Amino acid sequence: MKKMKILIDCDTGVDDSLAILYALRKPEFEILGFTTGFGNTDAVQAAENTLRLLKLASREGEIPVSIGENAPLKGKWDGPVVHVHGANGISGVELPPSQQKPAEEKASDFIVRLARENPGELTLITLGRMTNVAKALEKEPGLPKLVRSLVAMGGTYHAPGNVSPVAEANIAGDPEAADIVLMAGFDTTIVGLDVTTKIHLTSKTFADLREYCAPENRPIADYLVQAFIPYRAFSRDSDGNLDYCPMHDPLAMLVAIDPSVCLMRRLPARVECGDGLCRGMIVTDGRNQHMDAPYANICVDVDEDLAINRLFGVFL
Ligand code: RIB
Ligand code: CA
Repeated sequence: MKKMKILIDCDTGVDDSLAILYALRKPEFEILGFTTGFGNTDAVQAAENTLRLLKLASREGEIPVSIGENAPLKGKWDGPVVHVHGANGISGVELPPSQQKPAEEKASDFIVRLARENPGELTLITLGRMTNVAKALEKEPGLPKLVRSLVAMGGTYHAPGNVSPVAEANIAGDPEAADIVLMAGFDTTIVGLDVTTKIHLTSKTFADLREYCAPENRPIADYLVQAFIPYRAFSRDSDGNLDYCPMHDPLAMLVAIDPSVCLMRRLPARVECGDGLCRGMIVTDGRNQHMDAPYANICVDVDEDLAINRLFGVFL
């Protein structure tokens, strides 16, 4: 089996952790590295969480974790999203510490080196702000030609935003970086709120995971059940008392290996970087290339049951 070489850029919070554990259990992925950034938590804590997840999955010491940017290209970071992801980014769950240390190499250098060492083979999967990739582009403008593709969780096409009426957290958290990345000419796929909010993870999803997980995945299932309790409670309290949370980052990871779960439109896309109401909005042009921007694959619909079954299937 030819594996898909990936680098995961994350701000390891609760939903990132499900995406990461899925990737670690999916044999078709060859994870060459992790890079971390600010967002749900800071870049150092995100690396710490990632290292502990590697240990949880019995993969300690196998995959380098490199720390990246702790602030957007312009302006300041607002700080960790404690009310959604808890004080440590993973709902306060204390996973056992890892012996593995973060890599010495800075995230942007690591991205450039991996891309050069694997020309045409590497897929970048971004689960947080795109700051590390924008910094890597500064160092290697030829990055889009060196990597195979880029899959990003972020933005929204027609669904309401989650940090403003029109903007999603990963894009709004560093609009300048996201626009640089969209304009750079990667083979880009955007997995945004139109599809991630159509996946409903309920108490039954986690009860089934606990009941049916394979014995070797018991520690993973126990962690996920625990970490998603406050995350789902936040969703419930902010979204009409419904018993579910959306599935953001794991869907992007799934789409990277299994794009057939989503319906996509190919549209020119870039990001609004002005200071007004629409800052951080992804602007697409449905009129067909009137806007001067590269095309991106924008996920517009998803098969919810298929996505949940394929995602959680790796743990059974
Ligand atoms: O808007 C959802 C995104 O913001 C997810 O990637 C979540 O982990 C946070 O980074
Ligand atoms: Ca994330």
